[in-house]
Amino acid sequence: MATAKTKTPEQTTDVQDSALNELFIDELKDIYWAEKHLAKSLPKMAKAATSDELRAAIENHLSETENQITRLEDAFASIGEKAVAVKCEAMAGLLKEGEEIIAETEKGSITRDAGIISAAQKIEHYEIASYGTLKTLASVLGYNEAAELLDSTLQEEKACDSLLTKIAEAGINQKSKSEKK
Ligand SMILES: [Fe+2]
Ligand SMILES: [Fe+2]
Repeated sequence: MATAKTKTPEQTTDVQDSALNELFIDELKDIYWAEKHLAKSLPKMAKAATSDELRAAIENHLSETENQITRLEDAFASIGEKAVAVKCEAMAGLLKEGEEIIAETEKGSITRDAGIISAAQKIEHYEIASYGTLKTLASVLGYNEAAELLDSTLQEEKACDSLLTKIAEAGINQKSKSEKK
């Protein structure tokens, strides 16, 4: 069996010059795009929601998301980088899925809310994974200010996810069970 050749990368003692630094910045650009596009989609999701509770939760998360965009700009600035958005294919796909769920469910139905919650939680889980990694990478790279900013957003994403679970379990799942297809 052939042994796989592994290239030994050149070494550096300068964090700014490291491959990990480049990966961190690339991921920051990715989530920056994701948040900006999510902010454009959330009003549509709120408008499509049937229950006032879900609509209020989405509207609240819209203002949090706008603040998270500013926080990302602060994180870029804290490491001397320009805030640049690079298309996040994962978020683009998740948002498209959310639009499809709205198109496929009946207006005014609770089942639509169950669908919106499903789409929104997939988005939140993607964000939780992204911010968890970003926060850890920021700490490893010694970017303490960025790590703190990213952690604040991580906590908001987790809280949003928990709230969505609470809303679903408080009645939406049961009510939608009795709606005819
Ligand atoms: Fe977010
Ligand atoms: Fe979020």
